[in-house]
Amino acid sequence: MMTTSTASGKIILFGEHAVVYGRPAIAVPVTQVRATATVTDAPAGSGCTLVAQDLGEAVRLADAGADHPLALVLRLALDAAGIAREPDWRVVLTSDIPIASGLGSGAAISAALVRAALTHAGQPAPPETVSRLVYRSEELFHGTPSGIDNTVIAYERPVWFVKGQPPESFAVGQPFTLAIADSGIPSPTKESVGDVRRAWEADPAGYEAIFSRIADVVHGARRAIRDGNLAAIGALMNVNQQRLEALGVSSAELEKLIEAARGAGALGAKLSGGGRGGNVIALVDEQNAAAVQAALLAAGAKRVILTQVGTAAIR
Ligand code: MEV
Repeated sequence: MMTTSTASGKIILFGEHAVVYGRPAIAVPVTQVRATATVTDAPAGSGCTLVAQDLGEAVRLADAGADHPLALVLRLALDAAGIAREPDWRVVLTSDIPIASGLGSGAAISAALVRAALTHAGQPAPPETVSRLVYRSEELFHGTPSGIDNTVIAYERPVWFVKGQPPESFAVGQPFTLAIADSGIPSPTKESVGDVRRAWEADPAGYEAIFSRIADVVHGARRAIRDGNLAAIGALMNVNQQRLEALGVSSAELEKLIEAARGAGALGAKLSGGGRGGNVIALVDEQNAAAVQAALLAAGAKRVILTQVGTAAIR
């Protein structure tokens, strides 16, 4: 028997970092890129092998240490499925989501793995369960995650997210298109989240004030998205970017991409996710999409994905 499950990437539109401190954030799935997990029954007595195909790595579950992220996810899933004894499985993982780029590659691989393991074990894999198990692994390996990545990936729909609360969906008055540009600079979220935490510890009042100003932007963005007011969405992206710069998570390379997108006619642009490196997102329309994409590539983006928010394509 063979079971294959997938999970999409994600992008944060508004509110990254502040979301770790209880403020709301808005995120959407990016379905053009996906992680895939395939579970196949292996000969009896052969045990469970985890194969990370893209990394050329294979590890027997019995030999993997407690600090092996994928083994941890699989153990959590087996536990949730009520499987006490190691099953005879070969589990193969692949992904076309760029690593450490803000597209949620780690959470997506974990989500695909949890889905495939639960399904192969004959158990349901509802989004709440997938989200909860992926969060537990994120918590161990990424410090103090808000839970937004596992949530948007597990539910695979646009979410209005507040830490510790069930995700809400939000209305989209008019579909809009984002150009997602990969700076090619790895951006381990754990590091930028850790740096913001240290800065917040040194100046709690100053940082709390910035987080609250980011929350104002996120509330405004929800209204602008509901009203289909693209000019307002773009302007709010620009304001959110300024506030991320104030938090210290932007970089010269990201700002070069942001300026290039705005210069080519994007209605707004900002970094997305942890920052420093990773992705920049720009709000484009039919007229300027090609020019913005070209400008981003000319300014050093390694690749640009166009994704639509508010259409069936992203559900
Ligand atoms: C990472 O995708 C988003 C951050 O806000 C971290 C988190 O929410 O856990 C930077």
